[in-house]
Amino acid sequence: MIPREVIEDIVARSEIEQVIGSYVTLKRAGSNLNGLCPFHSEKSPSFTVFPNTQSFYCFGCSAGGDVITFIERAEHLDYIGAVEFLAARAGIDIPQDGKGSGPGRKNELTRRRVCEMNLAAAKFFRQCLFDPAIGGEAMRYLSEQRRLSGATIKHFGLGYAPATFGMLTDYMHKLGYTDEELITAFLCGKSQKTGRAYDYFRNRVMFPIIDTSGNIIAFGGRVMDDSKPKYLNSSDTPAFKKSRNLFALNYARNHCEEFMILCEGYMDVIALHAAGFENAVATLGTAITAEQARIFAKYTKKVIISYDSDEAGQRAANRAMQQLGEVGIDVRVLQMNGAKDPDEYIKLYGADKFRRLLSVSRTGFAYKSEQILAKYDIETPEGRIAASGECCQLISEYNSGVEREVYIGQISQRLNLSTDVLKGRVDQLLRKRIKESREAQSRRAQADIRGVGDRINPDTIKNVQASSAESVVLGLLMIFDEYRSSVLSGEVALCEDDFFTAFGKRAFTAIMELQKAPTGYAHALLGQNFSPEEMGRLQQMEQQRRALSRNGPEVFRQSAAALKDAKARSDGRASEDVLSSIADILARKAVKNSKNTPAQ
Ligand code: GTP
Ligand code: MN
Repeated sequence: MIPREVIEDIVARSEIEQVIGSYVTLKRAGSNLNGLCPFHSEKSPSFTVFPNTQSFYCFGCSAGGDVITFIERAEHLDYIGAVEFLAARAGIDIPQDGKGSGPGRKNELTRRRVCEMNLAAAKFFRQCLFDPAIGGEAMRYLSEQRRLSGATIKHFGLGYAPATFGMLTDYMHKLGYTDEELITAFLCGKSQKTGRAYDYFRNRVMFPIIDTSGNIIAFGGRVMDDSKPKYLNSSDTPAFKKSRNLFALNYARNHCEEFMILCEGYMDVIALHAAGFENAVATLGTAITAEQARIFAKYTKKVIISYDSDEAGQRAANRAMQQLGEVGIDVRVLQMNGAKDPDEYIKLYGADKFRRLLSVSRTGFAYKSEQILAKYDIETPEGRIAASGECCQLISEYNSGVEREVYIGQISQRLNLSTDVLKGRVDQLLRKRIKESREAQSRRAQADIRGVGDRINPDTIKNVQASSAESVVLGLLMIFDEYRSSVLSGEVALCEDDFFTAFGKRAFTAIMELQKAPTGYAHALLGQNFSPEEMGRLQQMEQQRRALSRNGPEVFRQSAAALKDAKARSDGRASEDVLSSIADILARKAVKNSKNTPAQ
């Protein structure tokens, strides 16, 4: 256990607006701050930071809590891990004897250990590359075939994994790393027969993947001929998640004010950086994820997608456009002819030509509408009808009226149809879409009210009245010391049994346990007992109360009474239910019997 004073000190020195501000661009709105939620995709900000209460809450996805909860979610750490993360950030030493051996501690340890191992391995790979006896062929591949300069090879920390099963493993053993650790770090595979570790990457040129703090978190390794698989990548480890990182972001983050370039391959990124485009990044061998799209949104406003020119690349570009569009990024697509990818293009035509391509890259609409128009023969009436239908559908998906009008103008020229006709169709589709989304929203709202699909507090559905009284009481208890005291002293009679849902019982118990402790209640300590999702729910309860001005003692008393009442009635109802269903069965039996009895 980390001592409570230490936790409180860490929280006190972690101003929530500053901590969150390094993840989310926040704009002041009165006494609060708003921004785009880092936990779900949105275009208009519903994520709010409340400096007064040092808490955050997203009105879109209900994520919420304090600074520790935020770090738990943003860094995917558990409570202890998040506390340690904040301690490191604030430069606070956690006393040695205060360090527990809980799972969070272990995770954070392995994470650091994996990065440490990766750094050692990267040094080993580099030594091998620069040793002509071992890495001569690899060095020729990189410098001659791929035409990388010595400076570029060093800049990206490239290396070579020799064609043996044991060189890296032996090297790492000498540094004191165990088989188990090497396997966890994905630097080694585990032999089926002996269970021992062996080098995972063999006879490959190695690309270290570096996070924005400069840690080597993983590797990609490429063969030097046409054998398969072309690339081996580290799988997810305690230090690495493919879906949450971008190759070369450690460099690109300093060159992204204007825009960033998204490509498919490591080699594309390296060639682009070498040619002066240091704002290029790549996903790590997978299609772009929502998490990666949010990373882009954190660093830049505009992304130019520069995927391979083959069909697969263009299909992937479509998906990327959608993901990036969803987080509000201005997306362009680069159209490349005469080369299969940016790496080849730059080799063939040079950096200036590539710069020109960037400057004429097309907006999502131009790109998509060209794709539609190319599908049909627009000289024929049938072709024009079909193409106009699809284009109107596409235009109706834009929320801005100005954008729709501009695009309608363009399509009207291309298809030689009047803007009125197109506008009529677009408006029709737009109305349909708005209606559908309203319906979906109200379905969601109703489901919320009924508590359907409430994973955090599944009991809500069983008694909406009791559950809502419960959240008022809990909300008030978390905010006001005097109400906690009044419960503790027995002035207001309230016990665990008065709560209706299992979650409510747990929350009440945890709050009162803290209150009972000699040092008293501290919100930051609640997180020890609840997951970030559950903390979000507690935050929501608090938030609902804070939004109201009437929170006086009479409100607390009345809510407590209402809770007891609703709970008691629900307990009563349960027994009534049993009785009435027994009565029901008896009644049905009676009817059946009477039917079986032959009429007299
Ligand atoms: P070059 O062919 O050397 O130009 O490589 P590239 O980096 O341009 O790769 P390519 O365009 O073929 O593929 C894009 C990305 O997909 C690569 O950088 C890898 O991240 C990933 N990738 C390609 N082939 C494989 C593979 O066989 N296995 C895995 N796991 N990933 C791959
Ligand atoms: Mn390539």
